[in-house]
Amino acid sequence: MNVLLVGGGAREHIIGEKIVKDNNSLYTIMSNLNPGLKRISKEFLIENETNVENIIKWDPIKNNKIDIAIIGPEAPLEKGIINQLENLGIKCASPIKEAAQIETSKRFMRYIMDKYKIPGNVKNAYFDDFYKIREYIQKLEYEFVVKPVGLTGGKGVKVQGDHFKTKEEGIKYAESIILDGIGGSKGVLIEEKLVGEEYTLQAFSDGNKIFPMPLVQDFKRAFENDEGPNTGGMGSYSMNNHLLPFIKKDDYEFSVNILGKIVDSLKKEGITYKGVIYGQFMITKNGPKVIEINARFGDPEAMNVLSIFEGNFVEILEQIADGNLKNNFRFLNKSTVVKYVVPVGYGTNPKSNSEIIIDENGILNNGSKVYYGSVNMKDGKLYTTHSRSIALVGIDDDIEKAEKKVENGLKYVKGEIYARHDIGRIDTINKKVERMKMIRG
Ligand code: AMP
Ligand code: GLY
Repeated sequence: MNVLLVGGGAREHIIGEKIVKDNNSLYTIMSNLNPGLKRISKEFLIENETNVENIIKWDPIKNNKIDIAIIGPEAPLEKGIINQLENLGIKCASPIKEAAQIETSKRFMRYIMDKYKIPGNVKNAYFDDFYKIREYIQKLEYEFVVKPVGLTGGKGVKVQGDHFKTKEEGIKYAESIILDGIGGSKGVLIEEKLVGEEYTLQAFSDGNKIFPMPLVQDFKRAFENDEGPNTGGMGSYSMNNHLLPFIKKDDYEFSVNILGKIVDSLKKEGITYKGVIYGQFMITKNGPKVIEINARFGDPEAMNVLSIFEGNFVEILEQIADGNLKNNFRFLNKSTVVKYVVPVGYGTNPKSNSEIIIDENGILNNGSKVYYGSVNMKDGKLYTTHSRSIALVGIDDDIEKAEKKVENGLKYVKGEIYARHDIGRIDTINKKVERMKMIRG
């Protein structure tokens, strides 16, 4: 099969690896020259991933070579890349624009959860009118969160007690979202602040049913001990039993049920959701709650689950596209740890265009794997961009061994770079377990 993949990060690198594993040909479109994708692609195009008009003019697409497509990031989904590819008769295993609204409009997500009374929802209110924000917030009797409705790469959300203290500061930020058009002038959402531990649940959806993947915990904060600004994710881990130490089986099933209900509700709205659906949940003293829904694999979370995926990946993509998903795959009972190497300053002022030297054999010989992220290759040398550079993945029977493998591998990456060493470490995980015990009371 000839498979089209859009995206040039580490998430796409592992997706590409799964695609070519079963003798398929990979056609990649990426905005940066990712060396990992370059070497496994039959053909590639360097193009802005949201420039759909140019993308569909690419020869392999124009000449009907592509059998099936999968999209890594959310931005092309918002631009309707799937609608256009489907119009050309190409099968797709990612959602159409209308379905992807579940991520691209946080308002739409809450609207669906409110309308269909899906459990795990939080109190929320939407504003596009500058003048109503102050009155609403002044009356709130609980702490709150201010979110631009549109896409901001996970960086536009501000939480009371965390990013701002007083109601007045929250009001000012909410107003600035409207005034400055943050998130594409789609308005602002005020949500009740939840307290607990976050986790990721990803599932395959064919529009009619979902099949869940193992749970993952992503570390969003730039610095150790979960300090510093929010980022796209500095790393993540998953456990050999596919749960997390602070998530019980029934919480997992409850979360799976929520994702299933979202897909069903979209269907009632006349929208078929095909592709990976990603739930960012928080376990609170009142059970699992939905923080956000994404219309794709997570990055880094894709690396946790796909590292232990056993099955024919492209066959699954076809079943998704055909609305005919079967459970003919499995996830190994192994633990995984992912740590991203990022340019120094990532999260605030990243040092781009700085050379990174990586001894890939050194890393492999020490037992971990390398997925290239947002780097550029020029004259055989590797350079940082403003985003995450390289991910190292360790897989083993237990989490300590997996974490150790990644740490050993990190010694083989040099440059003006930074990584969080606490991710996946047992003391870090234990702190989260203790914290959840306190919150549950
Ligand atoms: P989002 O882009 O909606 O995932 O939000 C980014 C981050 O803000 C999340 O990963 C949470 O850490 C935090 N956050 C978002 N919504 C809430 C909420 N209702 N309560 C507490 N924290 C939140
Ligand atoms: N790791 C968070 C995301 O992919 O949205």
